[in-house]
Amino acid sequence: MQDALRLGVAGLGTVGASVIRLIDEHGKSLASRCGRPVEVVAVSARNRTRDRGVDLARFAWYDDADTMACAQDIDVFVELIGGDEGPAETSVRAALSAGKHVVTANKALLARHGVELAKLAEANNVSLNFEAAIAGGIPIVKTLRESLAGNAVSRVYGILNGTCNYILTRMEKEGLSFEECLAEAQRLGYAEADPTFDIGGHDTAHKLALLTSLAFGCETDVDSIYLEGITEITTADIEAADELGYRIKLLGIAQRTETGIEQRVHPTMVPKSSAIARIDGVLNAVAVNTDYLGEIVLVGPGAGGKATASSVVADIADLARGDMVAPLGRPVSELEPYTRARMRRHEGGYFIRLSVYDRPGAFATIARCMADKNISLESIVQRRRAPRSEAPELGSGAKSSAPPQPVIMITYETTEADIKAALEAIANEKVIDGQPRMIRIERKPEAGTAQG
Ligand code: HSE
Repeated sequence: MQDALRLGVAGLGTVGASVIRLIDEHGKSLASRCGRPVEVVAVSARNRTRDRGVDLARFAWYDDADTMACAQDIDVFVELIGGDEGPAETSVRAALSAGKHVVTANKALLARHGVELAKLAEANNVSLNFEAAIAGGIPIVKTLRESLAGNAVSRVYGILNGTCNYILTRMEKEGLSFEECLAEAQRLGYAEADPTFDIGGHDTAHKLALLTSLAFGCETDVDSIYLEGITEITTADIEAADELGYRIKLLGIAQRTETGIEQRVHPTMVPKSSAIARIDGVLNAVAVNTDYLGEIVLVGPGAGGKATASSVVADIADLARGDMVAPLGRPVSELEPYTRARMRRHEGGYFIRLSVYDRPGAFATIARCMADKNISLESIVQRRRAPRSEAPELGSGAKSSAPPQPVIMITYETTEADIKAALEAIANEKVIDGQPRMIRIERKPEAGTAQG
């Protein structure tokens, strides 16, 4: 058997500790699969004394990840620090420059600097592996980089953030508050160190930027992604969706159009009968539409120590076997610049929720604003009462003493520009309290709905 592959692990949070535990537990089987042992030899973290439930005394300790990244006796630098700058960035650069392979779970870093880091890896003839950066335990990077090499991808989309899916599922199924569900997701080790990255949709956008690059052979461009998180979703939205036969999911979607590649992250209503609607809790799902294979959907745990460690170790195993693939699936010189296609058309229509003042002409005004933009309504439901979870209060601009009535509308297909203009016109007419709520509907998420 060959010499051991020696690892330096930087960052000993939920994932770092799980990686060490996994290698302890499965070291023997890993060695036999890879033809050589895989050994952690050094670790680095901010706090040396914190109890992480694993014995660290057997490893060399480094206060400074940059120093460990260049240490003579490590072959692979495993970066689990997180963040798109600071020690995560400097240590990854140091490791690649020193000719060490890097394995990382850091989607923020790669979404921002992936192309540049891939170039650095190429220049030093080392690997930059990041299976754990997208959808936790789901092997989507390997699938796109290797298994689908013979296909042209037209669309890649999915549920990419375990924390958001966990929150939306528990709010729907157990009627818990957003805050309770988020606290539980943090306790279970699903959320980012700063959970606003999860609920604001940024984490999904980082993962989508990487998926786009792998799927379409282009450079990453996270700033071009249309982004809405789940912070505005209320129990009332979830209940209304449920009554209409939908579930709300935070989706990341990238698709090729005639004008370029459209990338968007937003809450989406999907029919309860669709496969994606049934992805619950911390599970993620990634669907890929291709020319030769058709559609495939990969489902699995998207966050948490064990699932993420599984992907980190898969990357390490590739290195132990000597398998090297270009980080973004092809040499950096072969990547096309990212060409942005704007969100123009959305095939599934829109869900609109308004709090309408109870006075004559209010409905007629709303209908006129919609008609002015040629938007047809599939259904309008006026409730006599507020949804059980949310009784809106009268806004300061109210012209009636009666409380506003919740009104739900479903539109037929229209354009992003028209629906936004219609809703702005409705808000300007002062017939509603607060701002309209709008959620996009994907009626056939599994069918692929790319539109130019
Ligand atoms: N915070 C992330 C999530 C972790 O909830 O999906 C996995 O990337």
